[in-house]
Amino acid sequence: MNTLPHQPNASDSESNCSSKKMESSLHIRTSLEVDTITSTERKRGSAFCIQTEAEEGVHLTWEDLWVTVSNGKNGSRSILQGVTGYSKPGQLLAIMGPSGCGKSTLLDALAGRLGSNTRQTGEILINGHKQALAYGTSAYVTQDDTLLTTLTVGESVHYSAQLQLPDSMSKSEKRERADITIREMGLQDAINTRIGGWGAKGISGGQKRRVTICIEILTHPRLLFLDEPTSGLDSAASYYVMSRIASLDQRDGIERTIIISIHQPSSEVFQLFHNLCLLSSGKTVYFGPAAAATEFFASNGFPCPTLQNPSDHFLKTINKDFEQDPEQGLAGGVATDEAISILVKSYKSSDISQQVRREVAEICRRDSNIMEKKRSHAGFLTQCSVLTRRSFVNMYRDLGYYWLRLAVYVALAIGLATIFYDVGLGHRSIQVTEKE
Ligand SMILES: Nc1ncnc2c1ncn2[C@@H]1O[C@H](COP(=O)(O)OP(=O)(O)OP(=O)(O)O)[C@@H](O)[C@H]1O
Ligand SMILES: [Mg+2]
Repeated sequence: MNTLPHQPNASDSESNCSSKKMESSLHIRTSLEVDTITSTERKRGSAFCIQTEAEEGVHLTWEDLWVTVSNGKNGSRSILQGVTGYSKPGQLLAIMGPSGCGKSTLLDALAGRLGSNTRQTGEILINGHKQALAYGTSAYVTQDDTLLTTLTVGESVHYSAQLQLPDSMSKSEKRERADITIREMGLQDAINTRIGGWGAKGISGGQKRRVTICIEILTHPRLLFLDEPTSGLDSAASYYVMSRIASLDQRDGIERTIIISIHQPSSEVFQLFHNLCLLSSGKTVYFGPAAAATEFFASNGFPCPTLQNPSDHFLKTINKDFEQDPEQGLAGGVATDEAISILVKSYKSSDISQQVRREVAEICRRDSNIMEKKRSHAGFLTQCSVLTRRSFVNMYRDLGYYWLRLAVYVALAIGLATIFYDVGLGHRSIQVTEKE
C-alpha cells in the first residue's frame, strides 16, 4: 500500500466532513485512512469526536460499490453490484461465496488494488474520510504465493523483516520479530526448509500460505486483507492459522480490522467470524453478524439441516455453477437461481441490511481527527545491501543462474577448442588451416 504524504489537521477533517456530505454517493473514492481512537471513546459511542492518541483503529466502510470490467466488443460486465458493508477494529469479516462471485475483486477494491481495466464506482472510506494509509498500516495476503523458491522459510521471513522494518530497529530486534512471527504461524519446524517450487520440492502448499501470511504481518498492520488464507490447509491447520490471525491483537495489543475471503471454513473457523459477507455473482446475499446468518437463511425457507456446517449450507444454497437436478432443486424444490433472488431481495428489505446502512452512516458521520502515523521501511542503503545478499543467495542456489550457464560456457569452450585442436603453433600450420 502506498504511503500518502498528506497529513490533515483538525480543520482539514472538518472541511473534509462537510464537503463529503455534498459529494455524490457515486463518486469514486478508493481511499484508505488511519484514525486513532482511545478505547474509552470507542465504548462511549460512535457519534463522539475522536481524539488521536493511544490506540489506533481502522473503520473501513464501502457503500454502493460497483466494479465493472470491459469485455472488449461485448460491452462491459459488472463483477460487483452495489455492495455495501463495513469492518471495524477488533473484528473479523469473512467474505464468502462460490468461486468467481467477486470475493478477490471486493478485497482488491477495498485495498485499492484493482486492475486498470476495471471501473469502480461507490464510496470506500476509512473512518469516514478519503485518505490513504501510511506504509505498513495495511497488508494484503494475495491468493497466490509469490516467494523465492531457493530461500528457506527462515531466510525469507528474516530478509523480509530487514527490508520492511525501519532502520530505527536494530538487526537483532528485526530478527526477533521475524522469529516470533514464524512461531506464531507454527513454522518453527520448517524454518530451515527451502520454499521449493517447480522441479525442487520444498515446504508444503499450506506452509507456503503461512510463510506469505508471516511476511505480511511482520509490520503489525492495523488493516489486514487476506485472500483465502486457508487454502491448502487441513481443517486443524486452518483453525490454528485463523485463530492466530484473529487473536493477533491479544499478543501485540493492536486492535486490527481483518477482512478475509474464504472458501470452506469449518464450523470452528466459522465461529471466529464476527461478520459475514455472502456474495453471489457480485450481489450481496447477506451481510451482517455471522451468528445471525443461519437464522436469515431459515427465515427465508432455507434452514440449515441438523449436523451440517452452516457455511457448507450457505454455499450449497447459492452456488449456481453446477446444474441442479430440476426435479430435486434445493430444499423445498427451489432452483438455485430462484433461491438466490429470494435471498437477495429479502436481504435488501431486511432489518439487518438497514442496520448495516445505519452503521456505515454512523462511521462516516464521525468527526474524527486523522493521525497518519508515519511508518517507515528500511533505508536505501539497508535495502541495497539486503537485496544484494538475498539476490546472491538466490542466484547461488538456483541451478539456472550460475551452474547451468557455467556448464554451457564450458561446453562451448570445449566445442571451440576441438576446432583448433592439434593445429600446431608454427606459421606453416596456420597457412594449412587457412587453405582448408
Ligand atoms: N480484471 C478482470 N478482467 C476480466 N474479468 C475479471 C477481472 N477480474 C475479475 N474478473 C472476473 O470477475 C469474476 C470474479 O473474480 P474474482 O477473482 O473476484 O472471483 P473470486 O470470488 O475471488 O473467485 P475464487 O474463489 O475462484 O478466487 C470472475 O468471473 C473473473 O473472471
Ligand atoms: Mg479469489
